[in-house]
Order: sequence, then structure tokens, then C-alpha cells
Amino acid sequence: MSLLEVSHMSRRFGGLVAVNDVSLSVQEGEIFGLIGPNGAGKTTLFNLITGLTSPSSGNLHYQGQDITRLPPFRIAALGLARTFQNIRLFGNLSALENIRIAHHIHTKTGVWAGVLGLPAARAEQVGVERQAWALLERVGLQGRAFERAKNLSYGDQRRLEIARALALRPKVLLLDEPAAGMNSAEKATLSGFIRQVRGEFGLTIILIEHHVPLVMGLCDRIAVLNFGQMIALGSPQKVANDPAVIEAYLGVET
Ligand SMILES: Nc1ncnc2c1ncn2[C@@H]1O[C@H](COP(=O)(O)OP(=O)(O)O)[C@@H](O)[C@H]1O
Ligand SMILES: [Mg+2]
Repeated sequence: MSLLEVSHMSRRFGGLVAVNDVSLSVQEGEIFGLIGPNGAGKTTLFNLITGLTSPSSGNLHYQGQDITRLPPFRIAALGLARTFQNIRLFGNLSALENIRIAHHIHTKTGVWAGVLGLPAARAEQVGVERQAWALLERVGLQGRAFERAKNLSYGDQRRLEIARALALRPKVLLLDEPAAGMNSAEKATLSGFIRQVRGEFGLTIILIEHHVPLVMGLCDRIAVLNFGQMIALGSPQKVANDPAVIEAYLGVET
């Protein structure tokens, strides 16, 4: 059984079919790439998977369960966490606070116990604090812990968003253009980092990315979208040599 199964999903916006009858399945533990020209429907497909957009038709199964019309917070609670193409951090909160907020979804004692300073809540608070620091350190931002998120470089903001997603303890991590805005040194270390966190956190990763060397070097399988339709699916090697893919990217007749 696949971990995540997308079946005949479509999403229309007025006359535009942003995602057109896409079916694919993602296996546990793989790094699955999603590529395609601008406007191909990649982010819309992420929005469909994470419940931010409802499908016009089709359905979605996760661990065998139909999650097609669950609200985003329920889907997140099942273990699907994401980052955004246009970064969504709390700009006026510190890096550390941005991670703490995510952790609180998993704490048990609740807000009032925390406010009243009850012992169980205090112990849990210490745990949250320690884990938040560990995650900051994991993404190399421990030196920036008290900096407001909006003052961090793009690369640092992207890493912070990944750390925040990891704080949700996901099983599936969806990354929407994680290398965008990074300099070439940061891009070079990103693929090693993604591979490592997959191992450490036992993740399945779905990755939208334009930076071709990163996608080709990192992904187990790649799906290619063009005008909402999936035009190719397979190993990086297979996809790179597919005439339909070459045509979509270069606009040449083959
Ligand atoms: N909320 C929306 N309302 C109307 N059109 C949208 C909306 N979201 C996306 N689109 C359109 O759907 C198409 C696919 O967009 P998107 O999924 O963002 O593409 P990609 O991420 O591959 O660049 C684009 O033509 C975009 O303008
Ligand atoms: Mg996009």
C-alpha cells in the first residue's frame, strides 16, 4: 500500500484547470520530486494534498484513509507538514518563538495549566524549549534564535520554516521550492540536509523545486506537471530523457 495516493484529482479556477486529472502515489520513505514550468499546478497540488484547496473532483488517501475533504489542521495532525513557496513565518516573532508555536500543537496539558504554572505544564514547557533549541541547532540557526524571523536572510527563513514543519513531528514533509532565494553555497548544502533529515526523522518527502541539479541528485522519483497535467513520472534519468518533458521545458517540437 502506498503512503499517499492521489487519484484523478482536478482543481478548476473559473475556466482554468490548474490541476487536471492527476493520479500518483508516494511510497513511504521516498523523496518524490514535483517539477514543471511556472503555472503548471505544482503549488495547487500541494494545496490539495494539505487541504488548503478543495478538489473539483478526485480523491486523496493517506495510510489507506480517505482524507479528501478534511480541513488543513486535521491533515496536519495526521502527519503531513509543509513549507510555503512564499514563506509564511510570524515575522515579528523570534526564530525560537516560531518553532515553539508549532510544538504547542503536541503538548498535552493545555493552555490554562501553562498559564497557571502547574508542574506538569512546567515540565512540558521545559521539553518544548529543549526540542525547539534542538531543531534550531539542527538547521544551523541556534545563533539566530532571538532574531525576528523577518530580519533573517531568505535562506535562513527557509531553514526556519523547515524546522517549524519538523516541530509538528510529521511523517510526510512537503517542501515548496525550498532553494528559492538561497545562494549557491546554501543550495549545495540543502540536498545533503534534506537527505539527512529524511533518515533522522523517518520522513517521506515531496519536493517542488526548480533547481535542476538539486532535484535530479536528490529525488527517487519525479513527476512532471505541465498545464495541470502529469506528462511524465519515473526515475530522474527517465524523466530527464523524456521527449515530452524536454518539449515542455524548452518549447521545442520533438
Ligand atoms: N486561488 C487561485 N485562483 C485563481 N487561479 C489560481 C489560484 N491558484 C492558482 N491559480 C492558477 O493556477 C495555475 C497553477 O498555479 P500554481 O499551482 O501556483 O503553479 P506552480 O506552482 O506550478 O507555478 C496558475 O495559472 C495560477 O494562476
Ligand atoms: Mg508554485
